[in-house]
Amino acid sequence: MVQDAAGRGYHPGMRAAAIPPIDLGGDTRLLVMTGSGISAESGLATFRGAGGLWEGERVEAVATPEAFAADPARVWRFYGTRRAAAAVAVPNAAHLALAATEARLGDRFLLVTQNVDGLHAAAGSRHVIELHGSLWRSRCSRCRAAPVEDRSADVSPPLPTCPACDRPPARPALMRPDIVWFGESLNPASQEAVGQFIDDAALAGARLVFLAIGTSGNVWPAAGYVRYAAEAGAETWLANLDPALNEGWFDHVVAGPATQVVPALLGVT
Ligand code: OAD
Repeated sequence: MVQDAAGRGYHPGMRAAAIPPIDLGGDTRLLVMTGSGISAESGLATFRGAGGLWEGERVEAVATPEAFAADPARVWRFYGTRRAAAAVAVPNAAHLALAATEARLGDRFLLVTQNVDGLHAAAGSRHVIELHGSLWRSRCSRCRAAPVEDRSADVSPPLPTCPACDRPPARPALMRPDIVWFGESLNPASQEAVGQFIDDAALAGARLVFLAIGTSGNVWPAAGYVRYAAEAGAETWLANLDPALNEGWFDHVVAGPATQVVPALLGVT
C-alpha cells in the first residue's frame, strides 16, 4: 500500500486501477458519509472554494432562518436555481457504486449524506439519511405540518403559502425549502440512526469501516462523525479531491475524483 509520511493513504495522481478495494468481507459494516464533492462530476457546484456556491453568495444571506425572514424571495431564488440545476443532473459512477454496495451488503451498509440533491436515491440507493434535508421538499415556515414534495424551480412572488395556515383567522405563513439551515438543529432521528449503526457494529463485535466522500470537513456534526466512528474502533477512509479540514482524523486518505476513486475503493467495476 502506498502511504504518506503519516502512514496514511494514497497520493494524488494514483490511477484508480491501482487502488485496491477496501476489505468489506465477513461481517464488516460500512458507514458512508457523502458531501457535495460526490455530485461535482454530475455537474452540481460544491459549496466552498473556487466556483463554489458560497463564493457567489453569502451563507448568511440565503441559508439561515434570519435570511428567510428578511428576504424570502431572495432565498427562494437561490434554491430555485439549485432545483433547476439538480433537476437535469444524473447520478455518476460514484453514486452508482454506493447503490451497488448497498445492494450487496444490505443492513451492513448505511449511507448518510449532507447533500440535498436526491442523486443517491436516483442512483438506486434505498435507504439514505439526508442530514441537511432535501431540495425536493418544502414545508411551512411556521406550523409543524409535514413537508410536501415540491419540484418547482420557478418560485417567484407571490411566494407559496402553507395551506394549513392559510385559513382565517390564522395569518398566512410562507412555505420554505425543507433544508436544515445554519443555526437550525438536525433531525434527531437521523443522528440516532447513525449512532445506532455504530453501536450495533460494536455490540456484534463486527469490523466497522467509515468512508467519507467529497466533503471538506467544515460543517458539524457531519465533520465529527469520523471521530465518533474511530472511537468505536472503525477503520476510517476519506476520498476527496482536495485536502479536507478534518483530514488528520482519517486512517486513509485517497485524493482523486469520486467517479474514479469510489468505484475502485468499493470494488465496483
Ligand atoms: P464543500 O464545498 O465544503 O466541500 C466539497 C469537497 O468536495 C471539497 O473538499 C472538494 O475538494 C471535494 N470535491 C470536489 N470535487 C470532487 C470530486 N469530483 N470528487 C471528490 N471530491 C470532490 O461541501 P460539503 O463538505 O458538502 O450545508 O459542505 C457541507 C455543507 O456545507 C453542505 O451540506 C451545505 C454547506 O453549507 C447546508 O447548506 C446546510
